[in-house]
Amino acid sequence: MKNFRIVVLDDVKDAEKLADALVGGGLPCAEVTFRTAAAEESIRIMTEKYPDMLVGAGTVLTTEQVDKAVAAGAKFIVSPGFDAEIVDYCLDKNIPILPGVISPSEAAQAVKRGLSVVKFFPAEQYGGVTTIKALAAPYTMLKFMPTGGVSVKNLKDYLSCDKIICCGGSWMVKGDMIKSGEFDKIKQMTKEAVELAHSIRK
Ligand code: 3PG
Repeated sequence: MKNFRIVVLDDVKDAEKLADALVGGGLPCAEVTFRTAAAEESIRIMTEKYPDMLVGAGTVLTTEQVDKAVAAGAKFIVSPGFDAEIVDYCLDKNIPILPGVISPSEAAQAVKRGLSVVKFFPAEQYGGVTTIKALAAPYTMLKFMPTGGVSVKNLKDYLSCDKIICCGGSWMVKGDMIKSGEFDKIKQMTKEAVELAHSIRK
């Protein structure tokens, strides 16, 4: 996985069409954020229609949300920051967890728990690839998934760094495009993002 998208769905009626657009665009992977009440049901709809799609839950802030997300079909959990309770809960249950890590102290906690992949958020605000390289120097066992401000403009900078396992972004699934039903545009932008990622990392 070189690239995936971050989805904020306000309305469950959009979930199936969005999954169609993502799969059709060649990117069967999404982090559906628990920032709206539609997240749980949207994950269920997407994973029922596309069981092989890699759908995870993002912005998970409580262990209750972990349970809801997994019951709905989420294959991985993402939290914006390093919440030890959520991390330990997921590890106990063998649920893949990618907590946010932006400092050496958080990296140390992740490494202590045997994690090998963490989120780096908000990536651009925290110094982007320069900071990731600096963090990865002592914590060689960690790979990072930057999100927040990643776009076609800087994807090459991120994907050129071997400490970055994949990037996340919402630029091809903006809320206004979903609201106005522009699923063909989403599919096209997804296709372009996938092509760009492939051209950077062969
Ligand atoms: C995230 O949840 O990781 C970010 O909000 C995504 O950031 P972006 O909208 O800048 O891609």
